[in-house]
Amino acid sequence: MNIEDAIYKRRTIRRFKQDPIPIKTLKKLIDYARVAPAGSNIQSIEYIIINTPEMTENVFPLVKWAASLPKKDRNPEVFRRPTAYIIVLVNTNIKKNYFEYDIGAAVENILLGAMKFNIGSCWMGSFNGRKIRKLLKIPDYYEITHVISLGYPDEESVMELYKDSFKYWKDENWIMHVPKRAIDDIIFKIL
Ligand SMILES: Cc1cc2nc3c(=O)[nH]c(=O)nc-3n(C[C@H](O)[C@H](O)[C@H](O)COP(=O)(O)O)c2cc1C
Repeated sequence: MNIEDAIYKRRTIRRFKQDPIPIKTLKKLIDYARVAPAGSNIQSIEYIIINTPEMTENVFPLVKWAASLPKKDRNPEVFRRPTAYIIVLVNTNIKKNYFEYDIGAAVENILLGAMKFNIGSCWMGSFNGRKIRKLLKIPDYYEITHVISLGYPDEESVMELYKDSFKYWKDENWIMHVPKRAIDDIIFKIL
C-alpha cells in the first residue's frame, strides 16, 4: 500500500475479526512509532502490547467507544472486539511536558503503518486510566496517554464531506460515515 492510500483509506475501526495479529507485526507497529519525530529528539514514549485473549478481555471494559453514536451502537459485540491493544505511555523521567505532539506523530505512524497489514485501529483517549494502571502495574512516573485498539477490520467506514456536523454516524447498512471538512474550507489563505 502506498502512503497516499494509507492516508486516505485509514478510518477508525471499532469492530474486528477475531484472527490474532502476530506479535512480530505488533512489534513492527511500535518500530514505526519509534522513528517518529520528537521535540528536541527527546524520546519519552513507551508502549505496552496486549495481545493475549485473557488480557484483551481485561482491557476491553476500561475503554470507551464511539461517543458520537447512540449508546446502544457504541460498543463492539462480544466476537467483534479488538484482538490487541497498544497502551501509549510517557516516561516522565525522560520528558515531563511538551510530549503531546510527539505522541500525535508516533500514534499516527502506528495507525498508518497498520494499514500496510490491513489492520484496523482506533486511537482512544477515553479510558479508565486508574484501572489500567492497576491492571497493568504501571508505575506512577508513567503517564498513560492513549490506548490504541487493533484488529482485522469487521466494519466499513467511509469519509463524506462535512456539512453542518462533525458527528460520525452509521447508516442502515451499518456503514460508518465520517464527515471531513473540504479542502477549500481549511486553506485559510494562499499568499
Ligand atoms: C486524540 C483522539 C482520541 C480519540 N478517542 C477515542 C475514544 O476514546 N473512543 C473512540 O471510540 N474513538 C476515539 N477516537 C477516534 C475518533 O472518534 C475518530 O478519529 C474520528 O471520529 C474521525 O474518524 P476517522 O479516524 O475514521 O477519520 C479518538 C481520536 C483521537 C485523534
